[in-house]
Formats: sequence, C-alpha cells, structure tokens
Amino acid sequence: MLKTKPLTDQVALVTGGGTGIGRAFTEALARAGARVVIASRRQEVLNETAAKVNENVGDERVFAYAFDIRQRDHIDLLVGHVIERFGAVDVLVNNSGLAVPETVDQITEDGWDKVMDTNLRGVMQLVRSCLPHMTRNNFGDIVNVSSQAGKHGYADVPSYCASKFGLLGYAEALRDHVRKTGANIRVFNFCPGLVDVENTAPDAEPKPGFIHVKSMAKTLMYALSLDRNVVLEDINIYAR
Ligand SMILES: NC(=O)c1ccc[n+]([C@@H]2O[C@H](COP(=O)([O-])OP(=O)(O)OC[C@H]3O[C@@H](n4cnc5c(N)ncnc54)[C@H](OP(=O)(O)O)[C@@H]3O)[C@@H](O)[C@H]2O)c1
Repeated sequence: MLKTKPLTDQVALVTGGGTGIGRAFTEALARAGARVVIASRRQEVLNETAAKVNENVGDERVFAYAFDIRQRDHIDLLVGHVIERFGAVDVLVNNSGLAVPETVDQITEDGWDKVMDTNLRGVMQLVRSCLPHMTRNNFGDIVNVSSQAGKHGYADVPSYCASKFGLLGYAEALRDHVRKTGANIRVFNFCPGLVDVENTAPDAEPKPGFIHVKSMAKTLMYALSLDRNVVLEDINIYAR
C-alpha cells in the first residue's frame, strides 16, 4: 500500500500563491486544512493574501515568503526554510509564471531569458530541491501550471509557448523518473484555457470565454483526492 496522508497533515508550497490562480489554490488547500507557504517576489502582496485567507479560514494556515524564482540561491533558501519550519513539502505547486509578448521577429534575448528562467528553469530548480525531501518522506505531489499555450502555438507569445511546452516535456520526464524510482510522488499538469484573474469573488461572473479561478481550485482538490496510485496527468480545462 502506498503511504497516504490527510491534507490536514500536509504542507503545500505554492509559488505565485499571492495572486490569481495561485491564490485560489492556496485558499482551497488552506480550507482543507493544509498549511500553505506562498512564495513570490512581492512581500506585501503575499502578506495581504496570507492575512485575508487566514481570516477566511479562521486559523493561521498560510505563510508568506518572498523569493525570486530566477535566483538560484533564493530557491535553496526557500526550500530550506519550509523544511526547517514544517519538516516537509507534500504538495509543490509550480504556478509562478509570466509572458513577454514579443512576436517571433521581435524576440529579445532579455525577454526570452526572463520567460524561460521563470516558467521553466525555476521549476526545474524547485523540483530538484524538493524531490529529495519528498523521497525521504515517501510522499509528494507536484502540480505544474502549464497552459493551452503548452499545447498550441500562438503568434503573440512564442517564448511563453516554448516555456509551457517545455514544462510539459520536463514534467513527463519527471513522471517517468518517479515511476522508475518507485517514489510515492505524483505529477499533475494543468493546461487551462483563459482564466479570469480579475473577477475572483466566489459569486462573480467570469468574463465570457474565461474560467473562474474557483473551478481551477476545485479541480486541484479533486486531482489531489484521487488514490495514490492514480494520476490525472494533463488537465485540459476550458470555458465551454
Ligand atoms: N490567467 C490565465 O488565463 C492563464 C491561463 C493558462 C495558464 N496560466 C498560468 O497560470 C499561472 C498563474 O498565473 P495567473 O493567471 O494567476 O497570473 P498572475 O496573478 O500574474 O500570477 C503569476 C504569479 O507569478 C509570480 N511570479 C512572477 N514572476 C516571478 C518570479 N520571478 N519569482 C517568483 N514568482 C514570480 C507573481 O508574483 P510576484 O509578481 O509577486 O513575483 C504572480 O503571483 C502562470 O504560470 C500562468 O502562465 C494562466
């Protein structure tokens, strides 16, 4: 039997957990009883989200940590901090990401590097830092937020598409790795269409053609609730 662990005993690390989709993931995980470390660059945004979600759930479950995913030393410090304080990273949500809209004939080295370092290299480094702890604890879930731009090419964001396609390729290799090593670690990928990160109140109507962030959060909780020997590999989720 693969080891199981109730969410109330789990520690999640959500990059970009202060805003948008990451914030919705954070609130759902915290409501389910997990402790959640949210990490991105803007400390004040993280603090505000942590305070608000903690107020909503009536407990201190969300903790803010400022880091820049493009800085290698920040990644090691972040993972070291989570392990020292909480002893585990049970759920790693690789959600931080950005796009630099430069068409193929306009791409700059800086724009390309910024997108690749944030969306792809940073994820690789975080996974590399967390994997030994997940393996030691014989438990872990890694959730990558790719995009439909990881499955289709769009002329306005070629570097973003390359990074999100790359993320899926990396995730597939990671999944093969954990399968071969027999580790009790699952790897999920979200490939959403457009998600409304402006109208996020639970009763808000999303913009036409956009998904409400609560649907992303519900889907995350469903995916995590599946048996340990089951993995919902790529989650293609669109507005109807
Ligand atoms: N919204 C959509 O329609 C959609 C569709 C498909 C996929 N996605 C993906 O969903 C994920 C979340 O995006 P979102 O839509 O929720 O937008 P968002 O609110 O802009 O979230 C992006 C998050 O990434 C963080 N981030 C950016 N650069 C970072 C860095 N160098 N280090 C650490 N964190 C960094 C940002 O925080 P700081 O600025 O504080 O660092 C922010 O919290 C992204 O990966 C995006 O590509 C979005």
